[in-house]
Amino acid sequence: MSDNNYPRHVAIIMDGNGRWAKKRGLPRALGHRQGGEAVRRVVKAAENLGLECLTLYAFSSENWKREEEEISDLMGLMRRFIEANLKDMIERRVRLRIIGDYKAFAPDIVEKLEDALEQTKHGQRTLAVALNYGAQQEIAHAARLAAEEGSIDSETISRHLYTTDLPPLDLLIRTSGEVRLSNFLLWQSAYAEMLFLDVLWPDFGEDDLRQACEIFVTRERRYGGR
Ligand code: IPE
Ligand code: IPE
Ligand code: MG
Repeated sequence: MSDNNYPRHVAIIMDGNGRWAKKRGLPRALGHRQGGEAVRRVVKAAENLGLECLTLYAFSSENWKREEEEISDLMGLMRRFIEANLKDMIERRVRLRIIGDYKAFAPDIVEKLEDALEQTKHGQRTLAVALNYGAQQEIAHAARLAAEEGSIDSETISRHLYTTDLPPLDLLIRTSGEVRLSNFLLWQSAYAEMLFLDVLWPDFGEDDLRQACEIFVTRERRYGGR
């Protein structure tokens, strides 16, 4: 995939786990579990497609508003996901990055995440996971640091975002038919292409990611020029 127009960095708002479960008369927790399987598939697909960076929105800073039971299901899923996938990530040379204030999670999760960050740090391709992430908070934080440096300009703010060392965002996908950003990568989306798909996240697979990248290739990016 050495096509010049091929995306380097794709981000996904993984939405629709609850509706997937509801459609089948299953508890939301099962929707999240199937969502975890979709994550596994899509990380592999990103590798097959040669993407440099895949960023996944897994837990927003607003998702704390959900019921305690659902939050606890999501946390359990996160624990199991790291345990089940870390070895594979190291072998496949995937570098984990976390964007968001993950230190607000339970101490054992923070420990597992930091261990995974350390063990994958030499990986060649990046999987960035947004955990307790909110774009407005990210921008406010970056602006504060820029102010301390004495230059509140877009270059300095960009440098203080979580994504500073990631390739520029090319394509932002949201599943489940909702057409909004829900506080995700607001700054980074300035010139990203966007794709809103009806597929629910647990049904998303390699073909969906490939098709999305093919659609991206047909888009004409202008960046304000002609
Ligand atoms: C996305 O699925 C997963 C998270 C936000 C953690 P949802 O749980 O938002 O599913 P819907 O939107 O209720 O279908
Ligand atoms: C966005 O989905 C957050 C994640 C996918 C992690 P939500 O389901 O939380 O977004 P809203 O509430 O529909 O905007
Ligand atoms: Mg949702």
